Amino acid sequence: MFVVEHNMDIVRRADWLVDVGPRAGEGGGEVLYSGPVAGLAGVDESVTRPFLFPDGSGAADDGGAHLRGLAGDGGRSTTRRDAAGWLELRDISRHNLRDLDADFPLGVLTAVTGVSGSGKSTLVSQVLAEVVGARLHPEADTTAQAKDDPETAEAEVAAPLSVGPVSGLDQLDRLVKVDQKPIGRTPRSNLATYTGLFDAVRKEFAATDEARARGFGAGRFSFNVAGGRCETCQGEGFVAVELLFLPGSYGPCPECHGSRYNPETLEVTYRGKNVAEVLGMTVNAAAEFLDAVPAAARSLQTLREVGLGYLRLGQPATELSGGEAQRIKLATELQRAQRGHSLYLLDEPTTGLHPADVELLMAQLHRLVDAGNTVIVVEHEMDVVAAADWVIDLGPAGGDAGGKIIAVGTPAAVARSKKSRTAPYLAAVLGG
Ligand SMILES: Nc1ncnc2c1ncn2[C@@H]1O[C@H](COP(=O)(O)OP(=O)(O)OP(=O)(O)O)[C@@H](O)[C@H]1O
Ligand SMILES: [Mg+2]
Ligand SMILES: [Zn+2]
Repeated sequence: MFVVEHNMDIVRRADWLVDVGPRAGEGGGEVLYSGPVAGLAGVDESVTRPFLFPDGSGAADDGGAHLRGLAGDGGRSTTRRDAAGWLELRDISRHNLRDLDADFPLGVLTAVTGVSGSGKSTLVSQVLAEVVGARLHPEADTTAQAKDDPETAEAEVAAPLSVGPVSGLDQLDRLVKVDQKPIGRTPRSNLATYTGLFDAVRKEFAATDEARARGFGAGRFSFNVAGGRCETCQGEGFVAVELLFLPGSYGPCPECHGSRYNPETLEVTYRGKNVAEVLGMTVNAAAEFLDAVPAAARSLQTLREVGLGYLRLGQPATELSGGEAQRIKLATELQRAQRGHSLYLLDEPTTGLHPADVELLMAQLHRLVDAGNTVIVVEHEMDVVAAADWVIDLGPAGGDAGGKIIAVGTPAAVARSKKSRTAPYLAAVLGG
């Protein structure tokens, strides 16, 4: 049996371990170790090793000490924040939630926990998102989004929502759902277009003497509109190849060889590079190359801080992992002028993330909260729950046996609950 896994409790119980790395993207791709679990303790360059053997001794069971380390070091001190206000919803009914009253503290990081099927996603990703979204952004494209997104559309048809009075909304001005869905559905978007840093890059190219002499504006350096792009592939860099009797596949564009641009556009250079070469740079390389362009430098700096320095600017959105897409979305939020009145909703954000990436993610979430925002995460990872300011535990079980708030309070308070099925696991991480 072969399992691709990030959860160290499971990794620890395997008979054989293969660790791939050492880092992500171009910095990875090698098998660092293949053998019995204990042997990884001797592999210095493994990023997995410190999470598997947190005390450095190679002992396989640490009783959750590595998780306490994470809770303590996740980018902030261990002091809990206090609520700056409350978002209160009354008489919520949908799926297995029946006339539920729920209070969410504002200005803090809240974890919503509970066994599978207890109602977490119904409460946070559906009810909270719909109620707050509809009132904060009444004219917004929530319906467009719902149509676009079969899950939401289906849920809305299948399950009517009823909710009573809602208070506390006046302290919020924006709702943001940060999921692991792609940042775009076509190869036309990438992290440079999504974060907006490509706008700054195109302006720099348009401001060069060469571009001005030829009358090229910023639009000329876009691969999404006619003008500067290669028309054979319409700026995609590759073309569909129809093979008789075989499913269609993609091959590099015969005209531009994947550069996406026409030759005249590529003759214009900024600091010795053409626009296709800039899109081919990693975030790390571009941070140095574009350090004189503040709008781009800020984005690139945030992307590096979230651990994405290895990604290429032009890597198509369709080729990014879910965890990468999610961190690009968070980086885009972090680079905005901090306004501090947004509500961020995340449903199991650590799914698919290595513990080292969970640390990066948590540090970002805490930064958003430190800037005055509210973050609510649905989460099963007890290290993340332990690092939250507030916990809302649903249960007691799944389906009709769930849908109630069983325990609520600080992680330590919820860990002491006698009724909560989450409590013993949280207590183990907190060292209680
Ligand atoms: N569209 C739907 N129609 C009817 N019932 C639904 C629908 N979606 C979910 N449910 C039910 O509502 C209950 C709560 O589901 P929900 O998705 O909120 O659970 P959850 O706590 O997020 O679980 P998990 O940890 O597995 O994600 C479950 O019993 C589920 O079967
Ligand atoms: Mg769920
Ligand atoms: Zn082409």
